[in-house]
Amino acid sequence: MKGLVLSGGKGTRLRPLTFTGAKQLVPIANKPVLFYVLEDLVEAGITDIGIIVGDTHEQVRAAVGDGATFGARVTYIQQDAPLGLAHAVRIARDFLQDDPFVMFLGDNLIRDGIVSYVRDFEAGGMNSLIVLKEVPNPREFGIAVLEQGRVTRLMEKPKDPPTNLAVIGIYIFDSTVFEAVESITPSARGELEITDALQYLIDHGFRVEARHLTSYWTDTGKMDDMLEANRWVLEQLETAVHGAVDAQSALHGRVQVEPGAVVINSTVRGPAIIGRNTVIENCYIGPFTSISHDCVVRNSEVEHCIIMDSCAIDAGGQRIESSLIGRNVQIQPIDHKPRAYKLVLGDHSRIGLL
Ligand code: G1P
Repeated sequence: MKGLVLSGGKGTRLRPLTFTGAKQLVPIANKPVLFYVLEDLVEAGITDIGIIVGDTHEQVRAAVGDGATFGARVTYIQQDAPLGLAHAVRIARDFLQDDPFVMFLGDNLIRDGIVSYVRDFEAGGMNSLIVLKEVPNPREFGIAVLEQGRVTRLMEKPKDPPTNLAVIGIYIFDSTVFEAVESITPSARGELEITDALQYLIDHGFRVEARHLTSYWTDTGKMDDMLEANRWVLEQLETAVHGAVDAQSALHGRVQVEPGAVVINSTVRGPAIIGRNTVIENCYIGPFTSISHDCVVRNSEVEHCIIMDSCAIDAGGQRIESSLIGRNVQIQPIDHKPRAYKLVLGDHSRIGLL
């Protein structure tokens, strides 16, 4: 079985971070979401993996390389425009050949991996297996209708959803899916929808089965979902201190301090992770905070945040909470008049003032 990971797309709901970076590379507990996806595939024995890339292909290639660090062999497949998930399957035909494959959206994070789904599919009898999860906001997803346990209808982000069963971003197909993706036409939003391809399979008598996911899943396409995913992954964090913590500092609960990190005169209350070569000085770092590598954070209280790499932050003793801060961001106190907020904000930035 092969893997097909989707790591293109524009990531409009995560602007401004996605103006400069791939959404699949935003770190959750200091590790890109995409890496969790690759690990889940390898855990299920899938090591021949195609990654669909778009505008951000250089970053994805730089981060994943040839896949050897994951125990995989990665082939990159360029998608020139985000024309839909079924379009991605179309252009991956040469890579996939006639092998069955798991398609995994590179911004989806799940708790229990995909081993059981792969085994079920391999046991035979199905042309496709999809995974469903009950959600409170079904208008935002592909939605499935079941009759006596069988999938009968699928629709993409319906205005009036008949069920709350979302199709999550993990699909297994055999080669009959190529007939489907070649037969469907673009939806109203101009994309070849995988839900339409699945509907084609059902309508033409192919067997599409569903499994229900009861444990954690999130599509990290939005800011709040990112923080929630970070909180959830940090819940499983184990203590590991590889950096330096001075005698004036205290680590409470589960805290990871990566190699080369330095904690000076600070309190860190876990679960929290401090990235490699990051300096924390005169700070309170609270639960559910991930600070990435090569940052300097001084005189700040930080809680329930993701801070990406190479930031320099001095909040002048104030608290930063529930924030997602991109790379190379500088936050400094104003020590001269006029005392006012001084901002350089990219398009689509969001700030909350006191
Ligand atoms: C895509 C699919 C949708 C699915 C969702 C899961 O939506 O089109 O059917 O429910 O992923 O994450 P998108 O995130 O591209 O809007």
